[in-house]
Amino acid sequence: MTTSNSTAAALALIAPDMAEVDRVIAQRLHSGVPLVGEVSSYIISAGGKRLRPALLLLMSGAIGYTEPQRFNMAAVVEFIHTATLLHDDVVDESTLRRGRATANVSFGNPASVLVGDFLYSRAFQMMVDCGIMRVMDILADATNVIAEGEVLQLMNMHDASLDEAGYLRVIRSKTAKLFEASARLPAVLAHRDAALEEACAEYGQALGTAFQVIDDVLDYEGDSAELGKNLGDDLREGKTTLPLIIAMQRCTPQERAILQRAIEEGNTEELEPIVHIVRKTGAMQATRAAAGMEAQRAIAALSALPDSPYRQALMALAEQLLDRRT
Ligand code: IPE
Ligand code: IPE
Ligand code: MG
Ligand code: MG
Repeated sequence: MTTSNSTAAALALIAPDMAEVDRVIAQRLHSGVPLVGEVSSYIISAGGKRLRPALLLLMSGAIGYTEPQRFNMAAVVEFIHTATLLHDDVVDESTLRRGRATANVSFGNPASVLVGDFLYSRAFQMMVDCGIMRVMDILADATNVIAEGEVLQLMNMHDASLDEAGYLRVIRSKTAKLFEASARLPAVLAHRDAALEEACAEYGQALGTAFQVIDDVLDYEGDSAELGKNLGDDLREGKTTLPLIIAMQRCTPQERAILQRAIEEGNTEELEPIVHIVRKTGAMQATRAAAGMEAQRAIAALSALPDSPYRQALMALAEQLLDRRT
């Protein structure tokens, strides 16, 4: 997220609520098994943007939902997110997350996978405590779809023929689904009508899609220190993301052969020539433009909500997502 003024103002609006969510997170991380606390605190205390809880809280404000249940639900979505990161870094063999060595590097793959399972199941316990069947339905569905998205992506590894539709299917599942759930839940908890609930969900889905598209841009041209992640992970793994898909449509046959080989073999040494080709074709800008369309879709969905500082904050979030560097 950017540190620009209106995003900062948007987050200031929910600062006391976020402090409450942090309290719930700390309280619910408790386990009698020391390694669980060690690994989960390691990744959670490293921070992260807490974007999904922020989205849930801003949407609660925008629709006038003020019950304390929102703090529990915000902690639940952050637990689910954190569990996906623990597992994702194992499967992606990533070594840097939130500016620190990943949990898989510090504690090993088995501890990361198992503590990820702990966080998923703690989130499920908290949903059950909430006792509302639709809430459980939405969160169970989101968790299941995220897992499908990660498996789908695994199946697409090293596939240079993946097209934009195939790419979108992966990111809508692995990333946008949790944003969608985070934005939908306040409307469900507040018993708003179906049309308003769908507008909230659409905002979240579009925002999450834009967020992942930008993440895929930053993997090529971000700043590792700012991002707290290594660059080039996607190509090294042979992950075909939108910058590469667009570049392949626009480059010369010789260049296409280079890109294809890089995807099929997965090779970071090739990053510089690849970035050169991707830039030359204008694919970075085209990818950012695709994210921009999704951000516009998110903003359009907000027209169903009454004007308020929270709605303005959600608008600012979508607008500034495109310039994010972290
Ligand atoms: C990382 O999500 C995984 C993606 C969906 C790209 P975030 O960028 O929200 O991660 P943190 O929580 O801020 O570290
Ligand atoms: C993140 O995808 C999606 C999930 C964690 C489910 P990425 O693999 O692109 O995320 P980073 O780049 O590792 O954060
Ligand atoms: Mg990853
Ligand atoms: Mg990434």
